Amino acid sequence: MKSLWSATCKIPVRKELNQNIQTDAVIIGGGMAGILTAYMLQKSGLKTVVLEAGRIGSGMTQNTTAKITSQHNLIYTDLLRQFGQEITAMYAAANQAAIDEYQALIIDEQINCHFERRPSYVYTLDNAGRLEKETSVAEKCGIPAEFTTSVTLPFPVRGAVKFSNQAQFHPLEFLSVLSQKLQIYENTKAFEIEEKTVRTENHTVTADFIILACHFPFVNVPGYYFARMYQQRSYVLALSGVPQLDGMYIGADEKGYSFRSYENFILLGGSGHRTGQNQNGGSYENLKNAAASFYPASTLMYQWSAQDCIPLDGIPYIGQFSSKTPNLFVATGFQKWGMSSSMAAARLISDLISKGDSPFKEVFTPQRFKISASVQKLAENSGKSVKGLFKGFFSIPDEQLNQIPKGHGGVVEYEGEKVGIYKDENGEIFMVSVRCPHLGCELAWNPDELSWDCPCHGSRFDYKGNLLNGPAMENLNTL
Ligand SMILES: Cc1cc2nc3c(=O)[nH]c(=O)nc-3n(C[C@H](O)[C@H](O)[C@H](O)COP(=O)(O)OP(=O)(O)OC[C@H]3O[C@@H](n4cnc5c(N)ncnc54)[C@H](O)[C@@H]3O)c2cc1C
Ligand code: FES
Repeated sequence: MKSLWSATCKIPVRKELNQNIQTDAVIIGGGMAGILTAYMLQKSGLKTVVLEAGRIGSGMTQNTTAKITSQHNLIYTDLLRQFGQEITAMYAAANQAAIDEYQALIIDEQINCHFERRPSYVYTLDNAGRLEKETSVAEKCGIPAEFTTSVTLPFPVRGAVKFSNQAQFHPLEFLSVLSQKLQIYENTKAFEIEEKTVRTENHTVTADFIILACHFPFVNVPGYYFARMYQQRSYVLALSGVPQLDGMYIGADEKGYSFRSYENFILLGGSGHRTGQNQNGGSYENLKNAAASFYPASTLMYQWSAQDCIPLDGIPYIGQFSSKTPNLFVATGFQKWGMSSSMAAARLISDLISKGDSPFKEVFTPQRFKISASVQKLAENSGKSVKGLFKGFFSIPDEQLNQIPKGHGGVVEYEGEKVGIYKDENGEIFMVSVRCPHLGCELAWNPDELSWDCPCHGSRFDYKGNLLNGPAMENLNTL
């Protein structure tokens, strides 16, 4: 399903890579993080190339709600408890600086992308005390924060933390102009990295610096990012015929919603769940019910969903990929706040490469994560064990297939084998292996998106078994 952004902006097509090339820096992934990093590295004088598996912005960036803010729900109280005042203030500073950097870049490059300064709010219908505490911690970190009960939401709140002078924009209009300045190869998937060489299906790119900006890194070892992140999926509706909001909102309560205006639309987001844990479906229905109660006169114009990587300790992983790979960098784990984090990542990585240091290195360093021996073993063994599965696959008896009604999917077990089955509205049956080709977890059916989703690290496949989202790199085995 198309997002409002992809329906209203077409980015010019780029050629595939058709020869072996050499460059100073190669960025894998042409989303917000990759394009911004490429732009900054190029500005610093490095010859830079972007490899994009699909189209520019066609990953999570086209499905974001595109708030640019240092307000990442309630985060500062938690960061203070875990990391102390200095790191927490640095996290705030990096994200506040990102908002100003967007504005400066948009002015410099004369980008018309509906960039607007607006306040952002975290609201609660429940316990205002924790919001008052968050306000005070954020203020001490240098953020223009205040506690308020005055909001333009369609319901009263117990309280809200307001950050002034944040921003929102149209992410694809922004990328469309910025990407024109860069050497980008579309439909060019990177499959392997070996020292200074990136291999695509038919060619290689050799570079002094390689940057993984492909959302969830596909390199399992070293790095072990699969052990330090999972993915969370959320759903968005674009509604017309609604009153405008003064700013951007996100709910702090378990069933809180996200709101922002864009032209005459309101984007209403929510119904989040860990990827691979939506077997009962109903995520869009829940949001539509909320829309009907908040804005009875509204009309649904677009609906879509997306997912993001959630780091275990609340801070993205930006910097050197692993201690063993000095020329390999990564930007991931944006926990649904990848607009400001992409800018922070681009600044940090380009500073590390061009100046050898960054004031924000310590805050985001991926080296803060230590992996255990059992995790190392898992990575070494699981990949192998998945290969070759489905070899002895056989036909499933009709009585098993009849368990699945038309328009539904589910897992059928027969003689110890588990098979994912989707029966379309015409009764045609599609069978796939439910072993995730990443590290072998069992996939679960997602009725809202008609997809097979992995609860472990969030890879997704359509009902025919085609890969939709990584870290897996291959399609599913089919019958
Ligand atoms: C519902 C929702 C709402 C959100 N709203 C906000 C918001 O309001 N504000 C905010 O700050 N953040 C928000 N986020 C988060 C934000 O959208 C993401 O963090 C951000 O878009 C991630 O950008 P990225 O460049 O890292 O990833 P992506 O945009 O996914 O880009 C990665 C690119 O890499 C490519 N790729 C993958 N593998 C390979 C490979 N092997 N070779 C070559 N290319 C490859 C993909 O095709 C893709 O284009 C939201 C997230 C969700 C889920
Ligand atoms: S995404 Fe890692 S096992 Fe499925």
